[in-house]
Amino acid sequence: MTLTLAIETSCDDTCAAVLDGERVLSNAIASQGVHDAYGGVVPELAARQHVEAIGPVLADALRTAQVDASDIERVAVTRGPGLVGSLLCGLQTAKAFAAPASLPLVPVDHMHGHLLSGRLADQQPPEDQPHLVLVASGGHTLLARANGPRLADIEILGRTLDDAAGEAIDKGARMLGLGYPGGPALQRLAADGDPAAYAFPRSQKVPGLDFSFSGLKTALLYVVRDLPEGELDARRADLAASYQAAVVATLVLRVKRAIASTGIEHVAIGGGVAASTALRASLAELGCGLSIPDRQYCTDNAAMIGIAALATDPVGYPEHLALDAYGTGQGPVR
Ligand SMILES: Nc1ncnc2c1ncn2[C@@H]1O[C@H](COP(=O)(O)OP(=O)(O)OP(=O)(O)O)[C@@H](O)[C@H]1O
Ligand SMILES: [Mg+2]
Repeated sequence: MTLTLAIETSCDDTCAAVLDGERVLSNAIASQGVHDAYGGVVPELAARQHVEAIGPVLADALRTAQVDASDIERVAVTRGPGLVGSLLCGLQTAKAFAAPASLPLVPVDHMHGHLLSGRLADQQPPEDQPHLVLVASGGHTLLARANGPRLADIEILGRTLDDAAGEAIDKGARMLGLGYPGGPALQRLAADGDPAAYAFPRSQKVPGLDFSFSGLKTALLYVVRDLPEGELDARRADLAASYQAAVVATLVLRVKRAIASTGIEHVAIGGGVAASTALRASLAELGCGLSIPDRQYCTDNAAMIGIAALATDPVGYPEHLALDAYGTGQGPVR
């Protein structure tokens, strides 16, 4: 087996992992609390935080995996999409690690990582037949058919027409006075509320396998705006539960349609919203095969980058020194 060091710094989490083949030996993550006060990620601050955190996180990943830096046989790194300043920190670190030992470098697309996260679940997707993948993250919402593990084998069946699921969750949470990121806080608040209290739209009228969340977001905005003075506090848990239920129902409706239209009965999930307890429970009711990874592999992490690297062509040294990051638009999965 090949020992891979994987690095992921596309947004505001500094991540490094060590894998022996597909086996994850360590998965280190340093999250950046610095953005909480701004209600969203500040790109310049994120890049500076990565510069500070990447050394300790890398050392942590090697220590936990109980491997020496000299044992590493290749380096995988997220090349894009993401915040370019953040990506460059990871990419330069990966090159600096790989170059002295002339190690190959595997440039990985961040969404390829999220799409393959199901391989880190206890129940892996079937090797010999296609499966469906739902990725719901902060910047993307995709439904795909995976005919194999390489990016070229993955066919996008549907995507969001407006906001990503995570974006809708974060914006909704903000309207309810919760901090960033909104997902975990919304989930905690929703636990005390009634998911049927408000009938928020589930974009049933959007045909096929594409998603839309903008109507839902606007519906919450109007409900909050029209509440009698001082009523918001009493209604917040019900609003959170109903809003979360509508996001989950919007996602699951497309998964159901995809199962019906393709006949494929195994679904893998990835992306930060896949950490949602409500989504995981709702998918479990479908009765199909499921690959649901541990929550640490749903939000940004380097283990998924190491997994995607196994299905990506490496670039040798010194050619990999010329690799650049891409912010948006250049990745195979937009
Ligand atoms: N338990 C949860 N329930 C619902 N949403 C959650 C939960 N935990 C995290 N999220 C949401 O997941 C999103 C972050 O996911 P992720 O880290 O995969 O996104 P990203 O990397 O910023 O975006 P992308 O991968 O599209 O570039 C946030 O919107 C966050 O609110
Ligand atoms: Mg992500």
